[in-house]
Order: sequence, then C-alpha cells, then structure tokens
Amino acid sequence: MSQETPSSAAIAAPAESGGTEADAAAVRASSDQPARQGDAFENLLHEDRRFPPSEEFAANAVVTEADYAEADADRPAFWSRQARELLTWDQDFTQALDWSTPPFAKWFVGGKVNAAYNALDRHVENGLGDRVAIHFEGEPGDTRTYTYAQLTDEVKKAANAFESLGVAKGDRVAVYLPMIPEAVITLLACARIGAVHSVVFGGFSADALRSRIEDAEAKLVVTADGTYRRGKPSALKPAVDDALSQEGSGAGHTVRNVIVVKRNGQGVDWHEGRDHWWEDTVGAASTQHTAVGHDAEHPLFILYTSGTTGKPKGILHTTGGYLTQTAYTHRAVFDLHPETDVYWCTADVGWVTGHSYVAYAPLINGATQVMYEGTPDSPHQGRWWEIIEKYKVSILYTAPTAIRTFMKWGKDIPAKYDLSSIRVLGSVGEPINPEAWMWYRDVIGGNRAPIVDTWWQTETGAQMIAPLPGVTATKPGSAQTPLPGIAVDVVDEQGESVPNGSGGYLVIREPWPAMLRGIWGDPQRFKETYWSRFENMYFAGDGAKKDDDGDIWLLGRVDDVMNISGHRLSTTEIESALVSHPAVAEAAVVGATDPTTGQAIVAFVILRGDAVDTGDAMVQELRNHVGQEIGPIAKPKTILIVPELPKTRSGKIMRRLLKDVAEGRDVGDATTLADNTVMQQIAASLKK
Ligand code: WT7
Repeated sequence: MSQETPSSAAIAAPAESGGTEADAAAVRASSDQPARQGDAFENLLHEDRRFPPSEEFAANAVVTEADYAEADADRPAFWSRQARELLTWDQDFTQALDWSTPPFAKWFVGGKVNAAYNALDRHVENGLGDRVAIHFEGEPGDTRTYTYAQLTDEVKKAANAFESLGVAKGDRVAVYLPMIPEAVITLLACARIGAVHSVVFGGFSADALRSRIEDAEAKLVVTADGTYRRGKPSALKPAVDDALSQEGSGAGHTVRNVIVVKRNGQGVDWHEGRDHWWEDTVGAASTQHTAVGHDAEHPLFILYTSGTTGKPKGILHTTGGYLTQTAYTHRAVFDLHPETDVYWCTADVGWVTGHSYVAYAPLINGATQVMYEGTPDSPHQGRWWEIIEKYKVSILYTAPTAIRTFMKWGKDIPAKYDLSSIRVLGSVGEPINPEAWMWYRDVIGGNRAPIVDTWWQTETGAQMIAPLPGVTATKPGSAQTPLPGIAVDVVDEQGESVPNGSGGYLVIREPWPAMLRGIWGDPQRFKETYWSRFENMYFAGDGAKKDDDGDIWLLGRVDDVMNISGHRLSTTEIESALVSHPAVAEAAVVGATDPTTGQAIVAFVILRGDAVDTGDAMVQELRNHVGQEIGPIAKPKTILIVPELPKTRSGKIMRRLLKDVAEGRDVGDATTLADNTVMQQIAASLKK
C-alpha cells in the first residue's frame, strides 16, 4: 500500500490543522454538518424542543438517574459493581483501576474472565439455551436462527478448529468476512482461546488487507468466497489471495492458513495446504471445548482506523474493561429488557459498532438480535422495515446517513409496514441533524420511541455520551450527557473547561473501562496522538459545544479525518493513494458537506508535467486507483484537476480554502497563502 510512501508530496506538505483558536475550530467543524448548511450553529443552541420519556417508559427503565450519582461518588467503585454484576469472573479482580503509569490504564487488575463463556455458555447453564441469539437474514432472503445453545456449539467447534490449525493464545487472526453469523462465531471463538482478532472491513482492498495482516502478523485468515450486494454475488476471497501473494508483499507475511466460508457459491482459486473450507474444518470439529478465564487485560482485538497520517492505527482493546462498559452501555442506553426485546444494530462487523454492539454486548446481555447481510434497498427500498415487521424489532441502532437516505426515499415506504414494535431508536457515527432526528422519531418511532444519539469512537470502545432513555428529556441533534462513570468535557485552547454556551475541543478527563490500551506496536504514537494535545486528558479529535443547559453538541472532527457515511477516512491516506499514481504530482483531499453521506470526498490533483490530461478518463482512472489502493469506500466523489494548490509559506496545504471551493462558497481569508493568485488560478481552471 502506498500509504507509507515517505516522499509523497502530500506528506511533504502536511495539512494545516489544529493549533488554531478553539472557537474557530468549532465553527469550522460546524460547517461540516450536513443539513445544518445555512443554519447558523447559534440557532441550534436555541433548539428548545424536548422529549421527556413517557411515565410508563421511565417507570420500567432498567437504569435510573441513581447511576449518575453513584458513579460521581466513586467512579472505579461504580465500574467494579458493573463488572461483577454484568460478567461472570473465573477469578475476581483485586483492584478496579491501576492508573499509575498514564496513559496506560489497567482495569480490574488480577481478574480472569472469558468473553465467549460470558456471551454464551453461562446463558445456556442458566437455562436460556433455547432463547434465540441471532435471527440471520441473508440478502437473497435465506434465513438462519441460532439459539444460545446452538451458537455456543458453533463457537466451541470454531475454537477447536482454530486450535487444531495451530492458533494459540495471543496469536492474531485476521477476519475478512461479510455480515453473516460466521463473523460473530469467529470473533467469539478467537476470544474463547485468547487469540486476538483483527477484522478488516470487506470493503477494503487487497492492499489495505495486506498491510493490516502484516502489521498485526496474523497467523490465520478467516474469509468467505463472497457475499451478496444488491442481488449480485460479490467476491471476497480474491482479495485475500492477492494480499497473501508473495508479489508485492514486502517482507512477507506470517499467515499459515486460510479458512473459507462458502457463502455465495462463486468459484475460488484454491491454495492446497493453506486453504480450508469452513465446513470441513469448523464443521467437522468437536463441540467439546472448555473456556478458561483470561487476564482482564489480555488483548481481545485490534481494529485499524484512520488517523491524520497515512498509516492506519491498530487500536488495541483488552478484555475485562471493554466487556464491562459495552455491556453496561448496551443495557442502559437502549433500556434493554433481554427477555422481551428484539435488538437490531445495522452496523457491519468491520467497524467498531459491529464489534461492541453486535458481536459482544448483546450476547453478554443475553439479548435476541437480528443480523442482516445486505443493503437497505435490496430487493426493494422497504427491506429494513419489512425485517422490523417480521422479527418485531424493538430496538434499532443505525447511522444518520441511513436515516437521511430513507428520508430521500420518502415516508410512504416505511408507512407500508407495521413498525409498532419499536421502543428505542439509536443513532451513531456522525452528528445527527435535527431534521433527520425528527424524521426518525416521527416516521420510524411513531412519535413515541425515544431517540438515543450515542457519541463514541473506535478508541473509546463503547458509548461515552448519550441520553438515558428513561431519564433524559432528549433534544433533537444533541448527544447531551456523558454516561454514568464517564468524565467528558469541552475545553478551550489551553485545556480550560469552557462555560455553558461555548465551544471548544472534546476531551475525556478520566480513564474509562473500555478505553483503548494503545496502538498496536506503537506506544509512542499512542501518547502523541491522544495524550499530548492537553495535559492529562484524552483528546478525541472532535469539536463540541455546551449549550445553556450544559448539554453537549458534537460538531465533527477538528483534524484531517473525514466522516463519510459514518465511516472514518483520512485525507492524508487518500492523498497518498493519489500521488502513488504515476500521473499525479500532488494531491489535496477535503471532506465536503454532502446531504446524504455527511461528507463526500473531493480531491484536488496536480498532474505531472509529462502526464496527458485526458479529462473524464483520467478522473475515472484516478478514482479506480484509489479504490485499488484503499477500497471502494475511499473513491473520491469528485476529482478536480488544478494547476496549483493553496499553500502557506511553510508549505502547508490550506484545506479550508479548498473546502470553500468544494462546497461552492466564496473563498475565505487567503492572506496567509504563499502565492495569493492560486485561488484565482484554481477558479479559472474549474470554469473551463
Ligand atoms: C468519530 C469516530 C462510534 C462508532 C462509529 C464511528 C464521529 C461518532 C457520533 C455521534 C457526532 C459522532 C466522531 C468520532 N461520531 N458518533 N453520535 N455524534 N459524531 O467510529 O470510525 O471511530 O469514528 O465518529 O467524529 O470522533 P469511528
């Protein structure tokens, strides 16, 4: 992958970022808000609609206001109680939190716990073996149901199969799978034996997969022949073959075996000795497997996410704290009643939401969940609502980009289905604009179900800011309140807490159980990225404001990270991909406001002197090149070929000005440009 190309122009000219005045950052970030265009942010702060829970909802809520006070009084004690109530420990812990060597936290020191046992076996032992764990709905309409007893057996078989292929505690397993039950089974089987899973989203390319396999030194890859996308087969295995081919794989990889799930039946190339069908390995394995407790701080998984540099970071999560906070928040924020609720989180297992709120928390909590493989419009635009009607889904957790897409399709489509089972609606991944929030509430929630907007990150592991649906009077567009036991603040440039009514940077002041424990193989980068901007605080990279009530409104990233349909992508990573094309001399990428996807990728490219500008053909070639380097999700929506890029005297690209161009605004203050004619040159070239 070209992301490490040190000589690339994009890296030589880093973007202008950070270091500006806090409010300016917040304002800049607020211009990223999709349907907030035009609205001044100030109007939002005067948003005075409030939706308190109904009396009935509040009376039956599983978590009450008391949790805030308990956690405020003694944070580690609060989390210890949750850890002991929500999990079954093989060995109790002796210390809630060791924060003696910040920023390296240890939670539940001395405890031993097995994630898979907690997600599965213990429910069966408690007589819940016949409860449905997963209702799977394939895109073509095939379905499968797993009870807790059946899922436990499948995970035991997978654990045995992985062990028989030489995977041991601490080894890394790369997972490149679609949204099928085998994904959850694989994650839990890894956790069971103490192997560390590293899921790579199926929309990433072979190059991206290879760099992640190499960075984590994975021993085993679990994949599928393919999946279905909009009614058509879509392949996965060729990317694995490509990633593992010696050609171009640098120092070589450590993968010994590949397990392949047969999903869509399309033909695959086969590497004898290395490749094994799931049905022949897992399918033939024994259902006898005893889970042993792993140390509370034993690594559970690595998940790569984009940062402000070209190289994705392997975010490391460990066991006890992660399971405690994901389980607590899943129960509290969704008001989970596991005996009666049917929960559906639409996130792919390739992202952190699919880890925390599909693979782990719902099963730890003994819930029944729906898992859907495909796209919302296949075979028709009512597919999601049909699924909700069919399984009587009571809790839906999805992303604003999906909601805005449904708004575009019109409310007549959901109106055709019975959505009366819905009790709670969740939102995640990006700020939800008040219009989408209201539509979600009215059209999907029947003006009855509370909406919980949940702010968190791959790094935080679990939800951090969200209303409690039985307690909070919700406000359209705001994530509102730090959860019990979570110390979030908004600070100014100097790290001072801002008063209500002001904006600044979102920080976390105290360690939390599900916090990342580091960046895989790079402790220094962990400190620099998150803990150096403000002393003794975790800097999230987001801008935020406190309203007059002290409620928190998220304003988007203040760094060079973009949010496309709730997926995190780095501008630098895409710039590196572009400059790795022989025709490109320099590239600058910005996230421009998009009414559906939140942001859309717009690239400004300078061609090399000897390259021939073939217009649309060149643009198409460059888009495909980025698709190959990173994955289809990273393809720029727009590529503009320009004669120059706006840079400061120190050579930093002024992305702010390019964003003005990309969003069709008048260009802002350009006085710090080294060459102040550049913006005119760009404008002139775009007119042509
Ligand atoms: C970034 C984290 C959390 C799982 C999915 C994304 C943005 C996330 C919200 C929200 C406003 C949000 C932030 C954050 N974000 N949720 N409810 N309101 N912004 O995980 O890929 O690690 O991205 O997503 O900018 O920093 P991720």
